[in-house]
Amino acid sequence: MRSVAIIGYGAIGRELAAALAARGGYELAVVLRPGSPSAGRVEPGCAAIHDRAALASFRPEIVVEAAGAEAVREWGPAALALGVPLLLSSVGALHDDSLRAALLAAAEAAGTRLYLPSGALAGLDYVRAARGAGELRVRYESRKPPAAWADELRRLGHPDQPPETITLLNGNAREAAARYPANLNVAATLALAGTGFEATEVSVVVDPQARGNTHGISVTSELGTLDLAVANRPSPDNPKTSWIVSRSLLSAIEQHFSTVQFL
Ligand SMILES: NC(=O)c1ccc[n+]([C@@H]2O[C@H](COP(=O)([O-])OP(=O)(O)OC[C@H]3O[C@@H](n4cnc5c(N)ncnc54)[C@H](O)[C@@H]3O)[C@@H](O)[C@H]2O)c1
Repeated sequence: MRSVAIIGYGAIGRELAAALAARGGYELAVVLRPGSPSAGRVEPGCAAIHDRAALASFRPEIVVEAAGAEAVREWGPAALALGVPLLLSSVGALHDDSLRAALLAAAEAAGTRLYLPSGALAGLDYVRAARGAGELRVRYESRKPPAAWADELRRLGHPDQPPETITLLNGNAREAAARYPANLNVAATLALAGTGFEATEVSVVVDPQARGNTHGISVTSELGTLDLAVANRPSPDNPKTSWIVSRSLLSAIEQHFSTVQFL
């Protein structure tokens, strides 16, 4: 049995726990906040954990965060201190240089690693390979339907169903991850894989015609060009989250335990 601890039991945590249970061969624990209403809904056979001591005695072989940027701050260094990899879904949290340094220091001290999955994105292998190439330019566009941005539209005084597209941001990955940490994890992942937070160009568009959460990636360099369009269906439980994210985490966990590594 492989032991996996998942921090957070929202859309991604639930989908991931169900997928791991369906695969079989995994012993699961879910880290919940004390008094969380999710406690009664965890997968049968899955332990509910509320504190660090319980996480340590579960002895996970990998810890997966699926709870948000604050949970990365709260649990990240402690999880890494157990000497096992921490697979992050809230990669946007790493735009905070001091948190990123603390996580890397904790990983190094414990002889383990921080894993950053593709999540809702594709093409990170290419971006990593192109890193350092001459004339490298990496651009990312997020295009989602108004439902994914309901709170932000309301905050900005826009109607719930705007008649036309609205550009929420035209800037770089640091601005994007700082302003929309829960929504722009992919911009942070792309930045860390490629040209960094300042040089990665990001635009965020609310599109009433969008049929799903789409991610456009464009890379140009002396090596050639890459143009990718990913159209994700939203998670049935959370319109801000792409359905594929839990599968990306599942695939990363399988890679961790696999003899063959796709890099
Ligand atoms: N990398 C990607 O492509 C990508 C894509 C979508 C979402 N995400 C990240 O994944 C996170 C989870 O997404 P979701 O759709 O499951 O969100 P969700 O809101 O459905 O669920 C999050 C759950 O985490 C719990 N939680 C929050 N803080 C916690 C803590 N400190 N300890 C334990 N539990 C805690 C919440 O109670 C909630 O149940 C998002 O916040 C986002 O940062 C990453």
